[in-house]
Amino acid sequence: MKYIVTGGAGFIGGNFLHYVVDKYPGDEWICLDKLTYAGNLETLAPVADRPNYSFVRGDIADRDFVFELFRKEKPDVIINFAAESHVDRSVSDPDIFVKTNVTGTVTLLDACREFGIRRYHQVSTDEVYGDLPLDRPDLLFTEENKIRASSPYSASKAAADLFVSAYHRTFGIPASISRCSNNYGPYHFPEKLIPLVISRALNDEKIPVYGNGANVRDWLYVEDHCSAIDLVVRKGREGEVYNIGGHNERSNLEVVKTILRTLGKPESLIEFVKDRPGHDMRYAMDPTKIEKELGWKPKHTFDSGIPATVEWYLSHREWWEHIISGEYRNYFEKQYGL
Ligand code: NAD
Ligand code: DAU
Repeated sequence: MKYIVTGGAGFIGGNFLHYVVDKYPGDEWICLDKLTYAGNLETLAPVADRPNYSFVRGDIADRDFVFELFRKEKPDVIINFAAESHVDRSVSDPDIFVKTNVTGTVTLLDACREFGIRRYHQVSTDEVYGDLPLDRPDLLFTEENKIRASSPYSASKAAADLFVSAYHRTFGIPASISRCSNNYGPYHFPEKLIPLVISRALNDEKIPVYGNGANVRDWLYVEDHCSAIDLVVRKGREGEVYNIGGHNERSNLEVVKTILRTLGKPESLIEFVKDRPGHDMRYAMDPTKIEKELGWKPKHTFDSGIPATVEWYLSHREWWEHIISGEYRNYFEKQYGL
C-alpha cells in the first residue's frame, strides 16, 4: 500500500511517521509538506534514510501540484495532518487557515475523486465541538455533539470535517475522521503551551498564562494519538467519526506548575497575561467508541507523559533551540511583548 501523509514535518505527522515507517516496512510512506514555519525536516531525521520513506515539498491547496502528485504516485491512502494549527495565529491572521485547512482539504478530496482512493483520513480536533463549562465535569464530547466552533482555527477545521462528510455522502469517497484532544510530547513546536513552558523555564524566562489559568484541556501523549489514527485508518469504518482522548483533564495552571516542579524551577516565573479572545473554557473527550469498536487504549497518562516529555526536551536542546533562535522569536515578541 502507498500512503501519502500530509503535514508530516509537523509535530503529530512527524511522530506518526516515526510510528509507522518501521512498523510497516512493506508499505510505502510519502510525506507531503509545505514546510511552513511549523514544518521542520529535522523532525523527520529518524526516518529520512528508510527505503520505504520519501519526502515531497508542496502545498495541499495547490491544485495543479496535488493532481500531478496523485497522477504520478497513485496513492492508496491519504492521511491529512497538514494544517495551520495554532489558535492564537488564527486570531491574528485567519485567511491562511481558510486556505490551508479548508481549500487544502477540498483539493485533496477532489484529487481522491479524480484518481480514486482506498481511504482518505482527516485528522481533526476536539475544538470543532466548541467548549464545555467548568462546573459540569460530568459532560464530555461524544461524536454526537453539535459542531460549534469558537475560533477561526476551529471554524476552519469544522468546515473541513463537513466537506469530508459531504464528499463521503455525495461522491462516495471512502473517508474517515478522527477528532483528538490536546497532544503533547517530542517535537512539539514551542509556541504551544507545554513546550513553551519547558523551553522558557529552562532559560529562566517568564511563563505567560492567559487569564487566570483555570481553562481546562484534556492532554494526550502524542504516541497514543498515532496508535489511534493507525487503528482508524486500518480498521475504522468509512463515513465514521472517532473521538480520541485519554481522560487527562488538567487546568492550564496545574500543567504549568507540574512542569515547573518537574524541572525544579520556581512558580515566580509565572506571569498572568491578557486572555486569548474567545478562549474556550474546557475540552474533554469521550473515547468510548474507539475503545469499544477498535480496542484502542492509551499507554500513557499525564503523570508518565510529562516527565518523558521534559526528558526529551532536555536531551534534544538543539532541536528546539534552532526554532526559538529563528523567525519564531519575532512572533513571540509580537504576541506577548515579553
Ligand atoms: P503543526 O502545526 O505542528 O504541523 C503542521 C504541518 O503542516 C507542518 O509541517 C506544516 O509545514 C504543514 N503544512 C501547513 N500548511 C500546509 C500546506 N498548505 N500544505 C502542506 N503542508 C502544510 O500541527 P500539529 O500540531 O502536528 O497538528 C497536526 C494536525 O492534527 C492538524 O490537522 C491539527 O488540526 C490536528 N490536531 C492537533 C492537535 C494538537 O494538540 N496539536 C490535537 C488534535 C488535532
Ligand atoms: O484541543 C486540540 C487542539 O489543541 C488542537 O486542535 C490545536 O491544533 C492545538 O494547538 C491545541 O490548541 P490549544 O489552543 O488548546 O493549545 P495551546 O497549546 O495553544 O494552548 C493550551 C492552553 O494554554 C489554552 O487554554 C491556552 C493556554 N495558553 C497557551 C499559550 C500558548 C496560555 O495560557 N499561555 C500561552 O502562552
